[in-house]
Amino acid sequence: MSTPTLSEIPPGVVTLEDHARHASQVLDSNAWAYFSGGAADEISLHDNRQAWDRLHIHPRVLRSMAGASTAVELLGRPLAHPILLAPVAFQRMAHPEGELAMAYAAAAQSAGVVLSTQASQPLEAVAQAMLDSPYRGPLWFQLYIQHDRAFTRELVQRAEAAGYEALVLTVDAPTSGARDRERRAGFRLPPGVSAVNLAGLAPPARAPLAPGQSALFDGLLAHTPTWADVEWLQSITRLPVLLKGILHPDDARLAQQLGVAALVVSNHGGRTLDTVPATATVLPRIAQAVPGMPLLVDGGIRRGTDVLKAMALGASAVLVGRPYIYGLANAGAMGVAHVLRLLRDELEIAMALTGCAQLRDFPPGLVEMRA
Ligand SMILES: Cc1cc2nc3c(=O)[nH]c(=O)nc-3n(C[C@H](O)[C@H](O)[C@H](O)COP(=O)(O)O)c2cc1C
Repeated sequence: MSTPTLSEIPPGVVTLEDHARHASQVLDSNAWAYFSGGAADEISLHDNRQAWDRLHIHPRVLRSMAGASTAVELLGRPLAHPILLAPVAFQRMAHPEGELAMAYAAAAQSAGVVLSTQASQPLEAVAQAMLDSPYRGPLWFQLYIQHDRAFTRELVQRAEAAGYEALVLTVDAPTSGARDRERRAGFRLPPGVSAVNLAGLAPPARAPLAPGQSALFDGLLAHTPTWADVEWLQSITRLPVLLKGILHPDDARLAQQLGVAALVVSNHGGRTLDTVPATATVLPRIAQAVPGMPLLVDGGIRRGTDVLKAMALGASAVLVGRPYIYGLANAGAMGVAHVLRLLRDELEIAMALTGCAQLRDFPPGLVEMRA
């Protein structure tokens, strides 16, 4: 197994936004449109970020910080900190080592990894890059249920055999959003980058469309998963199943009734349906709807204070997407590790300055929407 190439962190890059700015110079316009863009007018993409900023922190002083720690527990497993890397497809477009570099960095920084179904490196190799590390975080596989359910079952079996510890079923993307920025840029996957774990999947058999028929409604959506498929997935795997892309409290309750292990409150980083609310706004509503259910949240998390806010609003852990891709583009595995370290350092500072020694039992009113 090859070890990652080590590159320098570019001078002056000291925040996640610095990584984004630098990556915008490093990535070509095709890759930049893919990684940075959102759906349609990108309202939700921007709202995700701004909603964290709109939350005020009301710090407490003179509280003991003895024994302070970022440690949390998630699905019965202790974690050194609550930051996981969100599933992001086609990472070899950002760096030749792609998901392998991501996994090495996550293992070095004790962060969890959720590998995308559309990864551009074999899922087994990514698992190997992480599994030997004694300090690693959780290793999960993100699943898109494919039109061919037999193929999907084999994919699940491969993930189980490779050592993945949970399945994260993404439910908010039965089709791609209207990715106008990508279309304007004429986005294409570059040669040599593909969803290697879906190799061998035949395209769905489709009758030619008659005039007036819809490619979406009369073609693609015939095979999209439903709640029955969540039960089917639970029946074919021994792994815990999480749902990613929950925004409605009623869907959270349905998931809880089915015994889903945890939910990811997510709007896919603003890439699917535009004008859905920011996840920072939705999180407290979901937490109220399904008390006791572990919740993760993603979308626009760029600062340690955002992580603290998410935890205070009821999250058990958070995921970051684009920022680590920018780190990957800027400096490979080292860049991803740097993004994780920056976020964790900022989280520790935020805890110290709010008098929160642990990421639980937060003082009441710590985080409130600005008046
Ligand atoms: C370029 C890109 C590709 C993504 N690919 C996937 C994917 O394959 N599966 C998935 O569940 N989510 C995917 N996501 C969504 C992320 O998992 C995550 O929800 C989102 O990026 C979080 O927002 P953030 O980028 O603002 O941190 C993708 C996001 C981006 C930006």
